[in-house]
Amino acid sequence: MKKILVVGAGGQIGSELVPYARKIYGNANVVAADFNESKCKILAESGPFEKLDALDGKAFHEIVKKHKIDAIYNLVALLSATGEKDPAFAWKVNMGALENSLEIARQEGCAVFTPSSIGAFGPSTPADNTPQDTIMQPTTIYGVCKVSGELWSNYYHSRFGVDTRSVRFPGIISNVTLPGGGTTDYAVEIFYEAIKKQQYTCNLAKGTFLDMMYMPDALKACIDLMEADPTKLIHRNSFNVTAMSFDPEIIATEIHKHIPEFRMDYKVDEVKQRIANSWPNSLDDRCAKEEWGWKPTYNLAAMTLDMLEKVQEKLDKGLI
Ligand code: SER
Repeated sequence: MKKILVVGAGGQIGSELVPYARKIYGNANVVAADFNESKCKILAESGPFEKLDALDGKAFHEIVKKHKIDAIYNLVALLSATGEKDPAFAWKVNMGALENSLEIARQEGCAVFTPSSIGAFGPSTPADNTPQDTIMQPTTIYGVCKVSGELWSNYYHSRFGVDTRSVRFPGIISNVTLPGGGTTDYAVEIFYEAIKKQQYTCNLAKGTFLDMMYMPDALKACIDLMEADPTKLIHRNSFNVTAMSFDPEIIATEIHKHIPEFRMDYKVDEVKQRIANSWPNSLDDRCAKEEWGWKPTYNLAAMTLDMLEKVQEKLDKGLI
């Protein structure tokens, strides 16, 4: 059975990708790694865990050798709004973790999955139905890292034959671990506030359309792409994927259908708004559909229903 290492396992995607992958590959075959042990207590109970600073190449390499890893899922990243606070640090973390992943993969014969993002696009990109192959001139350090990472990963594939694959994730909506420092975080926070207070103050303006995806679809995208037949892949780093596109008014209206007393007002965060304005409104994900069968399950209505149920359960159990 394939052995997988998830680096950054305690984050929003990692905390759900590890259990999802353990169901597929077996608990013992999916190693969770993160520098923050306390965020990984639950993951460490159901399978192997390693404390790892992904910037420490020697320690990273030792773990890959020790567990005879076949595929590295590198989920280490400072998100867009956090990145703007200290761009040099964001570059160091985001690119450092990728450099180690690629180099170790080259030496040990591993495959590498690293998510890219809608943040890889910029204001000169066509905003509607954004093509797979188009202008990519991002104006955030997060986006600069993502475009560089895409190119670097393709280089490792063409130059060294490393099996690198990636998707450009939109905002990911989830109910296990909160995202932090992202521009799309509002689409998660709105559910927690709707359940707890029936009120939400949105930090992006009305009319700000962004692509989004519910976590179960995001997890499926990661594994399906990594399991796809390589002979069918024309692209590698990185595929446009999306499940829905909405602005704050549209998601608020959907929540309102279930919580009639829900109200939303606005207090725009200038940094996040500037970032959101530079990103596409909606992606064209036909290449992912054609090359590896990408097909999301959750639309806005289905995602909203499930989110409200799950967040209510957390409130009932006193977890939030
Ligand atoms: N969710 C990310 C962010 O907002 C985008 O990939 O930074």
